[in-house]
Amino acid sequence: MTDKLRAPRGTFDVLPEQSELRASLEAAARELFDAAGYGRVETPAFEATELFSRGVGEATDIVQKEMYTFEDAGGRSLTLRPEGTAPVCRAYVEHGMHRLPAPVKLWYLSSFFRYERAQAGRYRQFWQIGAEALGSDDPAVDAELIVLLATLLERSGTRELRLHLSSLGNPATRAGYREELQAYLHRHEQALSEEVRSRIDLNPLRAFDSDHGPTREVMAGAPRLLDRLDPDDAAHFAELRVLLDRAGVDYEVDATLVRGLDYYTRTVFEFESAALGAQSGVGGGGRYDGLVEELGGPPTPGVGFAAGVERILLAADAQPPAAPGIDLFIAFDGGPASRDAAFAMLLQARQAGLRAEMELAGRSLKGQLKHADRLDAQHVAILAPDGTTLKDMRAATQTEIDTAAVVDSVLAAIGRQQ
Ligand code: HAM
Repeated sequence: MTDKLRAPRGTFDVLPEQSELRASLEAAARELFDAAGYGRVETPAFEATELFSRGVGEATDIVQKEMYTFEDAGGRSLTLRPEGTAPVCRAYVEHGMHRLPAPVKLWYLSSFFRYERAQAGRYRQFWQIGAEALGSDDPAVDAELIVLLATLLERSGTRELRLHLSSLGNPATRAGYREELQAYLHRHEQALSEEVRSRIDLNPLRAFDSDHGPTREVMAGAPRLLDRLDPDDAAHFAELRVLLDRAGVDYEVDATLVRGLDYYTRTVFEFESAALGAQSGVGGGGRYDGLVEELGGPPTPGVGFAAGVERILLAADAQPPAAPGIDLFIAFDGGPASRDAAFAMLLQARQAGLRAEMELAGRSLKGQLKHADRLDAQHVAILAPDGTTLKDMRAATQTEIDTAAVVDSVLAAIGRQQ
């Protein structure tokens, strides 16, 4: 016997009710980004593996253990995109978008792939709504993006949100800080968790992420990058904070905020929702002033965010909307001639803009009326060899009617004219 076929671990099917919810989130995003001048982009679902190893960073969990990488029949190493920022920057370079007026503002809603341990809110194929602004280092762009994400989350009903904000400065500051932190971690090595100890040289910043008690104690006294920023970066961060304060955005400066991607410089941020369990990050992002150049383009500052569609819906506890009823159900009694007349009426009704359905499953007339009820049909036409009846289900009335007049009659009843 063969095993039952199921969706792969960490993936899910989006059924009609859920797809309604997702469509309204998409509509909210579109409206918000349109108003802010962001144009939608779609990049391929897979890219050259090198894009992510260079862009996201060789030492990150994503590149080390979470990518779906394969060789195609032409011997190229390809990877299902684990995130959207590196692909958008690749497209920016490839299409010479640096020649466009800055900042170039783009958004996307796409699916991404990470081989992670699957649990509630963490999937192997998931969707993100993201936005990227390229070509300006003005802190007002950072502020605009943070306000956009806050607005999107608010409008979608996401509950118990907290915004964590920090700055990572520039690569030189970070390199100096990294050495300082490594030295500090080595001094306290005996208290650190096995995992943190093994990553001191590869990724010492991740030590701030540990939930191992003794490690956390050591980290409480660790030097903070935020205290080591050079004057330009510190000023950039201070200006961003003023803009967010003026915009009335609540945030918490969190010197230990660590993002799982290596391209960040200066601003980093993350919205968390206490309504989610362990996977509390709803959306996050930051500035990546070196990424476009790293990918072969001209020096170009950039900043952006991405938020998980599934996590937004979970944190909003969004309930599927009740299915709207239909305007007309066309039932019939009798043979193929009645069926054909019903089909002609169906096409005419839809042409006229009615939400209309006809009997398609061979039910008895009684069964058809029950089905019309299930569909919450406002009107039911019954076609029979001896004539046509139109029932108004709300008014509970019924009239004999000329078959050709049914559609006009329904249009008139619901206050629309053809
Ligand atoms: P990220 O923090 O890796 O950032 O992902 C952004 C959001 O995607 C997370 O906050 C979470 O809501 C969602 N997410 C991530 N992984 C999963 C998963 N396995 N299952 C479900 N949801 C998930 C980025 O991807 C950056 N590209 C964001 C960015 C844009 N930075 C600058 N521009």
